[in-house]
Amino acid sequence: MQESTAGRWWQGAVLYQLYVRSWLDSDGDGYGDLGGIIARLDYLSWLGVDGIWLSPTMPSPDDDWGYDVCDYRGVHPELGTLADLDRLIAEAGQRDMRVLLDLVPNHSSSAHPWFVASCGEPGSQYRDYYVWADPRPDGGPPSNWLDATGRSAWALDDRSGQYYLHNFLPSQPDLNWWEDAVHEEFRQILAFWFDRGVAGFRIDVAHGLYKDAKLRDNPPQPVQSPLAGRFGLRPEYNANRPETHAVFAGWRRIAESYPAPRLLLGETWVGEFERLAGYYGHDDELQLAFNFPFVFAGFTAPQLAGIVGATLAALPAAACPVWTASNHDVGRFPTRWCGGDERKARLALLILATLPGAAVLYYGDEIGMTDFDVPPELRRDKMTWDDPTPRGNRDRARTPMQWDASPSGGFTERGVMPWLPLGDNAVANVARQQADRESVLWLCRDLLSLRRAEFRGQIARYEAVPAPEGQWVYRAGDLIVAANFTDQPGACAEPAGPVLLSSSGTPRPGGTELTLAPWEGIVARQAGGTGSS
Ligand code: NOJ
Repeated sequence: MQESTAGRWWQGAVLYQLYVRSWLDSDGDGYGDLGGIIARLDYLSWLGVDGIWLSPTMPSPDDDWGYDVCDYRGVHPELGTLADLDRLIAEAGQRDMRVLLDLVPNHSSSAHPWFVASCGEPGSQYRDYYVWADPRPDGGPPSNWLDATGRSAWALDDRSGQYYLHNFLPSQPDLNWWEDAVHEEFRQILAFWFDRGVAGFRIDVAHGLYKDAKLRDNPPQPVQSPLAGRFGLRPEYNANRPETHAVFAGWRRIAESYPAPRLLLGETWVGEFERLAGYYGHDDELQLAFNFPFVFAGFTAPQLAGIVGATLAALPAAACPVWTASNHDVGRFPTRWCGGDERKARLALLILATLPGAAVLYYGDEIGMTDFDVPPELRRDKMTWDDPTPRGNRDRARTPMQWDASPSGGFTERGVMPWLPLGDNAVANVARQQADRESVLWLCRDLLSLRRAEFRGQIARYEAVPAPEGQWVYRAGDLIVAANFTDQPGACAEPAGPVLLSSSGTPRPGGTELTLAPWEGIVARQAGGTGSS
């Protein structure tokens, strides 16, 4: 069934990634929870987001904070109950907001009953739910594949003498997508949540499901990069396999069997635009595929403009691009891109809000929240505990939402120790910024409101405009955006219609020559624009 484009609410929309444990603690245990999300839905509605993506909510031993699921049909007791989730979906719906969950199909927890059975009874029907292989003749692991920490991706099971695969922690065994029963399990899991009103899923490790059937060694990768390959190997055979596309085509049919089509948003950790485009299929796989080259771009006009141009050139006609700059793995853009400089954070928000397609904000982006260097003794992320790279530890971007300037940041009750320490909440907090019309928060709200008025339900036409060095100028629908990525003021190349918004907040007379302040962006209506894209 082909959905009508009118049902594609994510086109022109803003999604908001909410790291549940860090949003708001409603029961005084130091962890954010579903009750906390319900309590702040009015805030999200005021901000103007169209949907929220919740970081993992399913029961888990939390070796990887929910990305190690032991029950795909439940809610983690520390976060709430199924009834709480139902209430959240209903209350969000009353505010015209959708709720997406995080689905982890690449691996489960080793505590999942499937894996327990897979390791247990010889001849168990669950044995082939996971990737098992014999040792090499020398007793070593079956291939040279490495996990996300740089160690062997194979763990030896003494009882059977075979190795099992884990692309992440040893307690996250990879599921075996060559096994039909695994497909059937996930079809049923999808239906379980869609039937409850979940609007879609962010799909964890979407590029990873299938592994090479012959378990061939990965080739060397001399140049290290998060996308091309870390630890000296290119992940050619333990991820990025072509068979994965058929999984998403099947899930898309399920998603579109609902009167309000459900959304599949993939964590497509790939560096090549053609590969990224492939995840959209022929408008029959994922409706949105995260763009990591954009995430990892430098905050410069040529890099960002180049990636946006290349992405749009590669995507198939109906495909909706999606732009994000922060998340719980890579860190926050006000630090990564902006080094804490508020002018740059404002400019980044202006860019995110005016690119065509969907945008995903990470909690705290709207107040310019920065990474926080969590002291080693307070870190909670096992995956990056001993990561020696600068900014390698992921806890830095998972600290509690900063609601006010109090010692608890308004995140939890007075005297309760939050699960991760609070970042710098003196200026970057909601209460202070809501009271200041010139704040980053108000700029973000104004941008989202403009975006909704201009782009809602559509993928705006994008066209780059020649610009002086250091500037990025583009048309998006009826808008024209001019952004100065330099420390110098610059004359704006393009004569524009009335200026609707400036990242610096400086009002501008319309239609005249314009000078952009350092790191300033403006949004204007194109001369002759009608107001509808
Ligand atoms: C990607 C998730 O975003 C990350 O947090 C997690 O550790 C891995 N996938 C494994 O699930």
